Amino acid sequence: MSRNPIKTPIIATVTSGKGGVGKTFVTVNLAASLAARGRRVLVVDCDLGLANVDIMLGLHPRLTLKDVLFGSAAPEEVILPTKAGFDLLPACSGVREMAQLLFEKIQIVKKVIASLEGYDVMLLDTGAGIAETVLQFNLLAPRNIVVLNRELTSITDSYAMMKVMHQIFGRDAFSLIVNAVADDREGEKIFSHVDGICRRFLGFATDYLGPIYRDEAVPRSILRQEPLVLAGTGSRTAACFGHIAGVVSRWGGPCLRALPAAQTGPVARETLH
Ligand SMILES: Nc1ncnc2c1ncn2[C@@H]1O[C@H](COP(=O)(O)OP(=O)(O)O)[C@@H](O)[C@H]1O
Ligand SMILES: [Mg+2]
Repeated sequence: MSRNPIKTPIIATVTSGKGGVGKTFVTVNLAASLAARGRRVLVVDCDLGLANVDIMLGLHPRLTLKDVLFGSAAPEEVILPTKAGFDLLPACSGVREMAQLLFEKIQIVKKVIASLEGYDVMLLDTGAGIAETVLQFNLLAPRNIVVLNRELTSITDSYAMMKVMHQIFGRDAFSLIVNAVADDREGEKIFSHVDGICRRFLGFATDYLGPIYRDEAVPRSILRQEPLVLAGTGSRTAACFGHIAGVVSRWGGPCLRALPAAQTGPVARETLH
C-alpha cells in the first residue's frame, strides 16, 4: 500500500548580528504575507529575553513558551491565532532564566517544533548576536534569514555572526534581507558588500532575498499593533514582503527530524577575530 510522502515544513530563523535592525517587524510581516498566500504559518518567538512578537500584534498571551519548557502547558494550549492569519507560539519578556536558556531546554524547544504538525512554514524570531542560545536556535533551523541594515555595526555584526556559525557549526547558507533602505540600489550595494566579504574570507556565497524600504508607515504600524502588510498591500514596502514571501514559499524544507543533533560547547573567542 502506498503512503503519502510526509510533508516537511520550511523552518527558518529570522536572526541578526545587531539588535534593533527589524527582525521582529520582518518576521511578523513575512508571516502575514505567507499566510495571505494560503500558507499555514507558525511564528515561534525565540527572542527569549526580550520577546515582543505578541506586542507587535496586540496580543496578551496568558501562557508562553516558558510554560511549555517548564512542563505546565502543552504547546497546543499556548499557540494563539493572530489577526494576520498565522499562529504564534509566544515567549515571555524580562525573565532572566529564559534569556540564558540551558542547552537541554533548547533541545526541548527543538522537539516541540518537530512535533507540531499542520504548518507549511515556521519562522523563529531570535534574539540578536552570537549568544549561545541564539546560535543554537539558528542551528536547529535548516534556514537562517539574516536581517541587516545600512549601519556599519549591523554589517560587521552580521558578518561576525555568520562567521561564528560557519566556523563552529559549518553553516554556509544564509539568506539576507537588507532592511530600511532608500531604494533597490542601496539594498544591492549593502548585500554585495557583505556577500563579497563572505566569499573572500569564509569561502561561501550568500543568498539575497531582497530589500525592504525605510518607511514611516513601519513605526506607525508597530504603534497600531497591526502588521504593515495588512494595512495596504498596495504599498511598495508591502510589495517587498510579497516578493520575499514568494521566494520563501518555493523553498523545499529539509526535515528537522533529519538534522544532526545540536552541538554543545562555548563559542571560542578567537573565532570572532
Ligand atoms: N523598514 C523600516 N522602516 C522604518 N523603520 C523601521 C523599519 N524596520 C524597522 N524599523 C524600526 O526599527 C525598530 C526596531 O525593529 P524590531 O523589529 O523591533 O527590531 P529587532 O527585532 O531586530 O530588535 C522598529 O520599532 C521600527 O520602528
Ligand atoms: Mg525583536
